[in-house]
Amino acid sequence: MEIGTGAGVSGIHLLRGMRRDGVLTTVDTEPDRQQLAREAYREAGFAANRSRFICGSALDVLPRLTDGGYDLVFCDADRREYLDYLDEAMRLLRPGGVVCFEGAFGRGRALDAAHHDDEALRLRELMRVVRDSPHLAPVLLPTDDGLLCAVRALGT
Ligand SMILES: C[S@@+](CC[C@H](N)C(=O)[O-])C[C@H]1O[C@@H](n2cnc3c(N)ncnc32)[C@H](O)[C@@H]1O
Repeated sequence: MEIGTGAGVSGIHLLRGMRRDGVLTTVDTEPDRQQLAREAYREAGFAANRSRFICGSALDVLPRLTDGGYDLVFCDADRREYLDYLDEAMRLLRPGGVVCFEGAFGRGRALDAAHHDDEALRLRELMRVVRDSPHLAPVLLPTDDGLLCAVRALGT
């Protein structure tokens, strides 16, 4: 499950890492971007039945998806909504599944207490919530703009 299809760069990587019968569900508000991603997946060699595109706002779409039906939720859309995506991911993921947040550093602003803009504050809160949750085992990877990942603990 991907939130933020964009032009399909991350989707191709997700598809490459999946089982051959795995299906990527990907959500974006922009139909034109999803069309670019659809073409990119095809050019990368993935059959059309390996992906499901849903056009809409994440917070409208996610509540309609199946509980426990996903192995991984990759978030790369509106960083100010990441805490809401986390709530949805906890419901969507099977136990042992993984939630990932691209851009957790907020272009460095989330790591610098001098910044108090909405996005920086919300990303800091996200990192606190993930760190303190008894239901998550997190890791923060120092990729370009930070990749926060967490496993949904078994038995939760
Ligand atoms: C950084 S881009 C995603 C890039 C993509 N993951 C890739 O690697 O090509 C962010 C995307 O999130 C989408 N987006 C922003 N807010 C959204 C929302 N509330 N719901 C769904 N998609 C949203 C934008 O339209 C944009 O395509």
